[in-house]
Amino acid sequence: MSDIAISIKGLYKIFGKHPEKAVQYVKDGMSKADLLEKHNHVLGLKNINIDIPAHKISVIMGLSGSGKSTLIRHINRLIEPTKGSINAYGEDVLLMSKDELREFRRHKASMVFQKFGLHVHKTVAENVAYGLVIQGTSLDQAKSDSHKWLERVGLDGFEDYYPAQLSGGMQQRVGLARALATDADILLMDEAFSALDPLIKADMQDILLGLQKELNKTIVFITHDLDEALRIGDSIAILRDGEVIQQGDPQAIILKPEDDYIVDFIQDINRGRIIRIKSIMNKGNSVDGPSFHQNDVLEDVLPGVVASSNHIANVTNDNGDIIGSIELKEIANAIAKPAVENNTNTNYK
Ligand SMILES: Nc1ncnc2c1ncn2[C@@H]1O[C@H](COP(=O)(O)OP(=O)(O)O)[C@@H](O)[C@H]1O
Ligand SMILES: [Mg+2]
Repeated sequence: MSDIAISIKGLYKIFGKHPEKAVQYVKDGMSKADLLEKHNHVLGLKNINIDIPAHKISVIMGLSGSGKSTLIRHINRLIEPTKGSINAYGEDVLLMSKDELREFRRHKASMVFQKFGLHVHKTVAENVAYGLVIQGTSLDQAKSDSHKWLERVGLDGFEDYYPAQLSGGMQQRVGLARALATDADILLMDEAFSALDPLIKADMQDILLGLQKELNKTIVFITHDLDEALRIGDSIAILRDGEVIQQGDPQAIILKPEDDYIVDFIQDINRGRIIRIKSIMNKGNSVDGPSFHQNDVLEDVLPGVVASSNHIANVTNDNGDIIGSIELKEIANAIAKPAVENNTNTNYK
């Protein structure tokens, strides 16, 4: 079985009166700014090709207006594409009938919204139960399932509250519980945590990561926040003006930015706290020095490497086997900020 959950190919979206005509200008290389100025059409997405792996967190990141919401809304066809294909678990989303699409949204792809999207006149329990009731579950059963999910997101005891009585963070926990209760494999999260204060946001990220360890959902997570993307993403795709400019392993994006725009984006991150030693190690035999786990970040191994007489350390895997080594100068190099012309200063493979 393929481990790709969602496959997006050659996707274009143009907003305006004659999208079919305008898409040709874009294919011929016209910029988003020119398309708007000369033809009064908005370039939403340009030739998006993304494979979303099953059971991972795939982050789509970009500044406001870069096309993130437009992209995620194609996955459950809240938006019709101008061109291209979207496949979810082998099914062509664009060929689904109205009924099939309704089933798909109810059972397979749940959405969590930035502004929570809760019913203000329903209690917390009723909000979570709602998704189940429309699936055909009885109200009693739905309420008991809701209770289980509310407990999981730390809202035990708040069943009978109304959304307005809860803080933003708590309301978003309700949104998350509601999405999880439907048992959908795919969670579409559009800036779900962006409206929250930093500490609450970090809490929500922890809750999501904790749940994900157990539930292994296929999560498409949209954010404009690089720290958030790096914290939770198994992979990251970066959008600019409707185009993916780099996608892949977060470590690769930091160590080998392919574009000046990405270099700008990543320039203020704490590299020592994010880059893992496995990303810059030299594969090979053991050396005379201390040992560190491959997933340790540079900052954590630095004191030990500095203190060792040869300024070199071993890198180990989960079994404790030595799989490579790392030198002090390589750590220093990786911590130094990259430039796009000069990104060969690491040996990221
Ligand atoms: N319904 C629409 N009509 C016209 N333009 C739109 C519409 N929806 C989005 N856009 C434009 O498409 C681009 C991408 O928007 P959006 O996907 O909302 O970006 P993001 O979610 O990254 O902030 C923007 O230029 C936006 O103005
Ligand atoms: Mg958006």
